[in-house]
Amino acid sequence: MAPLIAPSILSADFARLADEAAAVAGADWLHVDVMDNHFVPNLTLGLPVVKSLLQATDLPLDCHLMIENPDRWAVAYAEAGAYNVTVHAEAVVDPITMAVELRAAGAKAGLSLKPGTDLEDWIDVLPHYDTLLVMTVEPGFGGQSFMPEMLEKVSRARKMVQTGHLTLIVQVDGGIDLQTIEQAAEAGADCFVAGSAVYGMADPGAAVAALRAKAAQ
Ligand code: DX5
Ligand code: ZN
Repeated sequence: MAPLIAPSILSADFARLADEAAAVAGADWLHVDVMDNHFVPNLTLGLPVVKSLLQATDLPLDCHLMIENPDRWAVAYAEAGAYNVTVHAEAVVDPITMAVELRAAGAKAGLSLKPGTDLEDWIDVLPHYDTLLVMTVEPGFGGQSFMPEMLEKVSRARKMVQTGHLTLIVQVDGGIDLQTIEQAAEAGADCFVAGSAVYGMADPGAAVAALRAKAAQ
């Protein structure tokens, strides 16, 4: 499938979110990092900001919930109109019910794995999900370095999709730039989240196009 580019607004100017979304209108999804200062040691934004963003952009919102007890909160993001809602495997209590509820609310269901979480432990639940997010940094902050040892997990995920005939989108998030996106694409990722490599650039729209070109090579 053609690569999907998902700029992360974590690196954007939060006072100008509508403009920052417009600057990446050529992207596929807009990645929104929700952090609760419990699951990760950082605090960002929640449902009210997501609801406002939904009014401010036509880009599909990809909500990455780095929160405890997503079983309680995630469906509200789907009901609000998020396109994809990703919960963390380490936080979700009932992953299959979670996916069923997200899909019933009209969203794609995403499952995210921290770097230390084994893919193989989640084989049975993956058929219920639409996206698998392989974290390529420890979740919590933008601007960290890509962990090359995660490429093997991406490859294993790609193989699992092929051999299991799954329609999962394999997403990577953390330290994605013009170099690492090529490695991740080669390993089998098809959706690429990038924060600083988009919003840290003078022209975020051009940065999206450059990342897309590298991922498609
Ligand atoms: C980190 C977030 C990422 C972050 C990526 O916990 O999930 O989405 O914005 O930022 P970069 O691309 O700068 O590593
Ligand atoms: Zn993220």
